[in-house]
Amino acid sequence: MIVTMDGPAGAGKSHLAKLLASRIGFDFLDTGAMYRCVTLACLERGISIDDPSAVTQCALSLDIHFSGASVLLDGVDVSHRIRSPEVTCAIRPVADNPVIRARLVELQRIWAGERNVVTEGRDQGTVAFPNAPCKIYLTASPQERARRRVKQLELQGIVADFDSVLRQQNQRDLEDTSRACGPLRAATDAIYVFSDGLTEDETLDRLVEIVEARRGLAFTDKSHSKDLDLSSEANVLSSKS
Ligand code: DC
Repeated sequence: MIVTMDGPAGAGKSHLAKLLASRIGFDFLDTGAMYRCVTLACLERGISIDDPSAVTQCALSLDIHFSGASVLLDGVDVSHRIRSPEVTCAIRPVADNPVIRARLVELQRIWAGERNVVTEGRDQGTVAFPNAPCKIYLTASPQERARRRVKQLELQGIVADFDSVLRQQNQRDLEDTSRACGPLRAATDAIYVFSDGLTEDETLDRLVEIVEARRGLAFTDKSHSKDLDLSSEANVLSSKS
């Protein structure tokens, strides 16, 4: 069964999707990591991020693997480097590129195969897995998301200004929702989880509850029976094949 989780930056999606996957015994796919890998490769290879054909060529030549919690780019562990502010700032032309999006969506589908998976991103319920039996849209108010981000940065010893965090977040929301191809959008059949006022545990409990309810329905719906077959062993994502 495929569980999609979409939502804006700062909603805690990656963290909660990972916890959810672990709680229900599903695999976890972080699709943002794929866009980050392409961006990192361009930055490190001196490819101009504003040259669409060079960026596309680079993207199509990469091997991106997930190995447990690690992200491997052409065999090298880049799990930390893909999270750098430089990558985050440069990512937009990669995420806006329709050829790259089409290829990464194709790879996401190959990776998911017949697994039980929680897949997290912006377009998972709308574009990548429109037939997924369980779609969640996780969000919180802009102010709450910015407050959490400031707290997170403080825990890392970084002093952050709330207003500038909120401004940057609003800009990312605008970029994510206004992209011509694969914009951030809740699928019409997605269940909204609005986490203002909820603790992490309460949000996780709500997510588990949603999946369990959908899982019950999926088991009785033969149209989804193939999604419940745990047969795939592949844990490799390659854009070369
Ligand atoms: O979730 P994240 O911050 O790691 O995502 C990194 C970037 O990739 C962000 O700018 C949105 C984009 N993205 C996307 O366009 N589609 C996805 N499925 C996942 C991420």
